[in-house]
Amino acid sequence: MKEHKIGIILNGVTGRMGTNQHLIRSILAIRDQGGIQVSPDEIITVDPILTGRNANKLQSLAEKHNVERWTTDLDAALQDDYNQIFFDASSTLHRAKFVEMAAKAGKAIYCEKPTAVTTDEAVRLANICSDAGVKNGVVQDKLWLPGIRKLKTLIDQGFFGRILSVRGEFGYWVFTGHDENQPAQRPSWNYRKEDGGGIIIDMLCHWRYVIDHVFGKVKSVSCTGATHLPERIDEEGKPYNCTADDSCYATFELENGVICQFNSSWDVRVRRDDLLVMQVDGSHGSAIVGLRKCWVQPLGATPKPVWNPDIPQPIDFFEGWQEVPDATEFDNAFKIQWEMFLRHVVLDEPFPYDLMEGAKGVQLAELGIESWKDRAWKDIETL
Ligand SMILES: NC(=O)c1ccc[n+]([C@@H]2O[C@H](COP(=O)([O-])OP(=O)(O)OC[C@H]3O[C@@H](n4cnc5c(N)ncnc54)[C@H](O)[C@@H]3O)[C@@H](O)[C@H]2O)c1
Repeated sequence: MKEHKIGIILNGVTGRMGTNQHLIRSILAIRDQGGIQVSPDEIITVDPILTGRNANKLQSLAEKHNVERWTTDLDAALQDDYNQIFFDASSTLHRAKFVEMAAKAGKAIYCEKPTAVTTDEAVRLANICSDAGVKNGVVQDKLWLPGIRKLKTLIDQGFFGRILSVRGEFGYWVFTGHDENQPAQRPSWNYRKEDGGGIIIDMLCHWRYVIDHVFGKVKSVSCTGATHLPERIDEEGKPYNCTADDSCYATFELENGVICQFNSSWDVRVRRDDLLVMQVDGSHGSAIVGLRKCWVQPLGATPKPVWNPDIPQPIDFFEGWQEVPDATEFDNAFKIQWEMFLRHVVLDEPFPYDLMEGAKGVQLAELGIESWKDRAWKDIETL
């Protein structure tokens, strides 16, 4: 058996995303399943090294999960040829310096989104990677959510006829921390613009690749943002001013004529099927898409409601939908993309989700913010 053992630097991994999705659900899951069998006699195995600033946090995370290697000396980890991949899940504004260091050290680079908060910077980082000739990629996890994979199958099978519109509703209530026993469940930097926070920069990056890959190329954007809650409590228990948008209401026009409308909010209470739900309406059928589940209603089974508020609604609108069954097993979305990136690095398989693709997400977010400020539609130029 030929083993490709890959040393992977996991930077900023003591944070929310780094620990849960990337370390535990992806890299350690790959380690614990014995690697990725890429042919009957070839396997890719992973050997992570955790890097960051706080030795105590790194050590306890490493010990808790049986990871042998950790260090606060990122330079040394980068100098070690054994480590072929550098991954970054630190907060957004730190990304650039780490990507630059890793490109200089000749590592394959994989990182969380957004890669930057301006298009110029995101494109600069993409160019640094391509100039250095290093393989690179950005997390676009939503593409491998079971619900979205089911939707993609329906589209490929022609279920919708012509897709007309998409309504996306994303969000949940993020506690401010003011009330006893209701601590905030997201980091405080998310609500400070000066620290790279804001829901537009966070979520429009996702909507860009979801729309581009699933519904068609985005042509223009109109977006309104808001900071509905002006004060929250930080990790030290101190109040701080929220300087970043915590909700946004965006409409996207696609080159193929489809209209997509996505509301994203950290101050909305959930009475829908999931934290992200998309309704896709087509000439021949519609679908409701959550993170894992998907329901459909074909034209032939579409009820015919009549507007009459004087009587109780005779139709149970929820009954007229059929759930799409799980036709396969769905692995964790982050892990699927990690496996693709590892195969890209080791076997040179295609990996289209590179830093330039990531820059497109930043571009849509930046134009969304400009649209809000100028109260105007913004067209998207090709990067
Ligand atoms: N793909 C997704 O769905 C998704 C979801 C949430 C967040 N994110 C992105 O992931 C990144 C991390 O977000 P999070 O919610 O985990 O934030 P977080 O604040 O929980 O984690 C950030 C981590 O970076 C570390 N860090 C900060 N500065 C550092 C430095 N100078 N050197 C080394 N480490 C440093 C922190 O100690 C912490 O461990 C952000 O860019 C965010 O936009 C992606």
